[in-house]
This record gives sequence, C-alpha cells and structure tokens, in this order.
Amino acid sequence: MAAEGSINSFSGRRVWVTGHRGMLGSAMMRNLETSGATLLVAGRAELDLTDAVAVRRWMEENRPELVFHIGAKVGGIHANATLPADFLYDNLMIQTNVIDGAHRTGVEKLVFVASNCTYPTNAEQPITEEAMLTGPLDTNIRAYAVSKIAGIEMCRAYRTQHGSNFVAIIPPNLYGPGDNYHPQHSHVVAGMLRRAHEAKHAGAREFTVWGDGTPRRELLHVDDLAAALKYVMLAPTTHELYNIGCGHDLQISELATLIAEVVGFEGEIVYDRSKPNGTMRKLLDSSKIRALGWLPAVDERAGLATAYADFQRRHTALAQEQAPHRF
Ligand SMILES: NC(=O)c1ccc[n+]([C@@H]2O[C@H](COP(=O)([O-])OP(=O)(O)OC[C@H]3O[C@@H](n4cnc5c(N)ncnc54)[C@H](OP(=O)(O)O)[C@@H]3O)[C@@H](O)[C@H]2O)c1
Repeated sequence: MAAEGSINSFSGRRVWVTGHRGMLGSAMMRNLETSGATLLVAGRAELDLTDAVAVRRWMEENRPELVFHIGAKVGGIHANATLPADFLYDNLMIQTNVIDGAHRTGVEKLVFVASNCTYPTNAEQPITEEAMLTGPLDTNIRAYAVSKIAGIEMCRAYRTQHGSNFVAIIPPNLYGPGDNYHPQHSHVVAGMLRRAHEAKHAGAREFTVWGDGTPRRELLHVDDLAAALKYVMLAPTTHELYNIGCGHDLQISELATLIAEVVGFEGEIVYDRSKPNGTMRKLLDSSKIRALGWLPAVDERAGLATAYADFQRRHTALAQEQAPHRF
C-alpha cells in the first residue's frame, strides 16, 4: 500500500470515527453526515478501545476503510497531574489497538489526532513539526504527551515499515460544542466559560482566572478541526505529521476578556497567581497544512458564542438531571 495517494471521496466508503461521542468526535460526525460515507461507530459500552481482543474482533467484523482516530483519555492539567498512570496506560493501549488493527485489517488511510503538548516546552515559536523530540516536556502533562508521541511514532513506523497511509495531526487547544465543563477536568476555554457563567449568575463582582494571565494560547474551534481532518483524509498527504492551527494566539487575559463579553459578565477579572501558568506559549506553525489548501473558517468571538450556547443548553438540561461526569 502506498503511503501517499489521495482518496477521491467518502461516498460509499466505510469510515470509522473513534471517540464519536466526544467533543471532536461529535464535530467529525456532524461534518461527515452529508459526505455519503457509511459511518461506523461503537461507543465505549460496546467497544472498550483499551481491549486489544475486542478491538481486533470489531475491526475484522466491520472492516473500516478509512479511520479518524480521535478517541482518547483527555483532560486538563489537574486530571493529568493526578492520574498520569491512567493517561499513559489508556492512550498507549487505545492507540496500539487501533493503529496496529488498522494495519492488520488493511485500512486504506488513518488520521490520528495527537496534541500540541507533545512539543518541548522550550520549542522555538511558532512550533514546526521538526521540533518534535528536541527538548523536555511540560512535567504536568508528560504522561499524556508521551502517549501521544508514541502514537505519532507508530504512524511514522508503520509508514516506514509497511507503507501504511497513516498520518498524525497536532491541533492547538480545542473548544466548541460538546466540551467538558467538569470543574477539575476541563480545558482552558471550558473552565473559563463555566467560571464566568457562574460568577454572572451568582451576582459576583469578580471571576477568577488561573495563573497571572500572561501565557498565550492558540485556539481552534472543533468544527474547524473536523473540516481539516476531512481535508487531510482526502488530500495526497506527503508528510507524516501536520500541525493544524488557526495561526495566531491570544494572551490568557485577552481570552478572559473575550469570554466575559460573550457570557455577559460585567465584573472584574482577577488572576490567581498561586495556580500554575503552564507553558508560556504554544503557537503552531501550520504552513504545511496551509500548503495543502486548508484554512480555518470560524472566528474566535463567533466560535466562543457557539460554545457558550451549547454550555447553556446542557447546563439547563443537566440542572434537571443529576450532573454526569462530563459536566
Ligand atoms: N480538547 C482539546 O483541547 C484537545 C487538544 C489537543 C488534542 N486533543 C485530542 O483530540 C481528541 C478528541 O478530544 P476531545 O476533547 O473531543 O475529547 P473527549 O470529548 O473527552 O472525547 C474523547 C472520546 O474518546 C472516548 N474514549 C476514551 N476512552 C475510551 C475507551 N477506553 N474506549 C472507548 N472510547 C473511549 C470517550 O468516550 P466516553 O464518551 O465514553 O468517555 C470520548 O467519546 C483526543 O485524541 C485528544 O487527545 C484534544
């Protein structure tokens, strides 16, 4: 099987989206709805992706031709710092099962979603794909980062040894509908949206942001990433790794101001300097994906408004039930 070569269309193709109920997986499903693909999905209750025997059996029975490998154990700094063994074990198992299974069952192309935390903390900005494995990682999320580096390396190794058309991609921080708003397990945008919303509804004079507000973060709306993953699947990808970012970053203090505006919180934003800043900057150099012709379409204010509308919808629904773990 050639490692390059383009896929003409999704029409009639058997396409597996792992993690299809998660934030990015749901965006991928929305995006592929009208593609003509036969969408294959299996929720965790039906198929635990850490179970090697079950994954192999499922792939042999369902014979996916194209795989968007999105499913993973995902969480914010707190979850990563307190559960590193779970992050390492689950993600190594999931990736090994899906990527090796794709090789053994003859999958034509697989796109694996890694993470920007795989880059060294001291990488030159904007970060090119060549910075991988050139320096130390953020210790708070090292276990998760190492698992994702192993997934990138698996795609590379299977291309080299077997000619597999497996491609890894690295997004920046994601946000959008379907995000996880758990107080301890959320990422930066979801955590801030929740705290700003709660401050507004409690009539509080201030809402608190972790760190001193000076780090910078690049954000990408999940609908933009889903469109990009589709693009990568169809394109004749000659590289094994692509950064997929929006091309600019915001200071945390600018993001907090934007979120306060979107939420309608009119009080003061205060910074809790006892909490870690995390990496100061992680701007991706996305020139390789731009050269393939992909461009982001969602602007930050409009994107944050869609995320907040989703938060409000789910918050109201969940207030009536008992809050499940994702909220
Ligand atoms: N969110 C970000 O900012 C960000 C940034 C960079 C990269 N990424 C990457 O993007 C991908 C999607 O992230 P996301 O934010 O959409 O995560 P998410 O909402 O937590 O979704 C992850 C999905 O994976 C599934 N999953 C996890 N463990 C599983 C298992 N053992 N068996 C079966 N399914 C399992 C989850 O199922 P359940 O619903 O049953 O839990 C969920 O559907 C991940 O690979 C992540 O590493 C995310």
